[in-house]
Amino acid sequence: MIEEFIKKLPKAELHLHIEGSLEPELLFKLADRNQVDLPFSSVEEVREAYEFSDLQSFLDIYYAGAGVLLETEDFFDLTWAYLERVNDENVKHVEIFFDPQTHTDRGVPMRKVITGIHKALEQAKQQFGMTSYLILCFLRHLSEEAAMETLQQALLFREWIEGVGLDSSEDGFPPKIFERVFAKASEEGLRKVAHAGEEGPAEYIWQALDLLGVSRIDHGVKCTEDEKLMERLLKEKVPLTVCPLSNTKLRVFEKMEDHNLKEMLNAGLCVTINSDDPAYFGAYINDNFLVTQRALNLSLKDVTEIAKNSFRASFLPQDSIDYHLSCIEEYVATQNE
Ligand code: HPA
Ligand code: ZN
Repeated sequence: MIEEFIKKLPKAELHLHIEGSLEPELLFKLADRNQVDLPFSSVEEVREAYEFSDLQSFLDIYYAGAGVLLETEDFFDLTWAYLERVNDENVKHVEIFFDPQTHTDRGVPMRKVITGIHKALEQAKQQFGMTSYLILCFLRHLSEEAAMETLQQALLFREWIEGVGLDSSEDGFPPKIFERVFAKASEEGLRKVAHAGEEGPAEYIWQALDLLGVSRIDHGVKCTEDEKLMERLLKEKVPLTVCPLSNTKLRVFEKMEDHNLKEMLNAGLCVTINSDDPAYFGAYINDNFLVTQRALNLSLKDVTEIAKNSFRASFLPQDSIDYHLSCIEEYVATQNE
């Protein structure tokens, strides 16, 4: 019953790396199309390799997989496959991360990456009425100079980009390294988010807020270790894009029952549920909702609040947010009849 409820609940996804939605079947298809050698001989073998011990062990495979993406069409196919899938899960709005440096460092032009993704987003608007924003992420294991260069290149496509983010290996790569890059993005009118407090300490969440000026924190689960930080997030209503199955797959929490999502929700934080890298963690947004609901015994009210938060935390204009919130209210009312 709750499964059906979650399935039909209108929702937004705000933490999704498009490269992390590359399913093994498409990986093989693109490897074949582009004549790229893969170290795997079957889809099953690939799935078996998706056993991770921490963030880095995942990132190594994730960057290797992205090696099959070369042409505009590849980025289109990748993005379209994700959008079709989540349209079936009643996702009404998406804010998608992409990692241009993973591609430009292999000689793929920024233009091909952005154009392919953008075309798929446009098609989803036409075909499904699904709205979207694109968020460019800087790889934090690379230099500040490389991030600045990436931003400059991407500004040629300014009208297709809504914001910037920060991802990749967290420990040892604090947000403060990218202060000037985020200041430049701000001057350009871009929104700002950052992965912080996934594996790294609560201190990185402070830095993302104070030094980068982000309006949303990706993951942020380490915030419960710092009472003052909790007060700050609460006071400023800073949303957290939590990815529960990513957290258990990368051993941030040993098991879902240990996850602190309910604790954050009970504290009044604006918590959302997202899939992060669904092809690698084996679950899209609805499964993330369902597994979390079961393990933490979330009520229908909790689940509804989390879906509402996904729109409140989005970068949509207020009238669109209000529209989606009213759709949720309407949906919940029909369920109670
Ligand atoms: N954390 C950091 N970088 C990432 C992730 C993540 O969960 N997914 C893809 N890149
Ligand atoms: Zn992420």
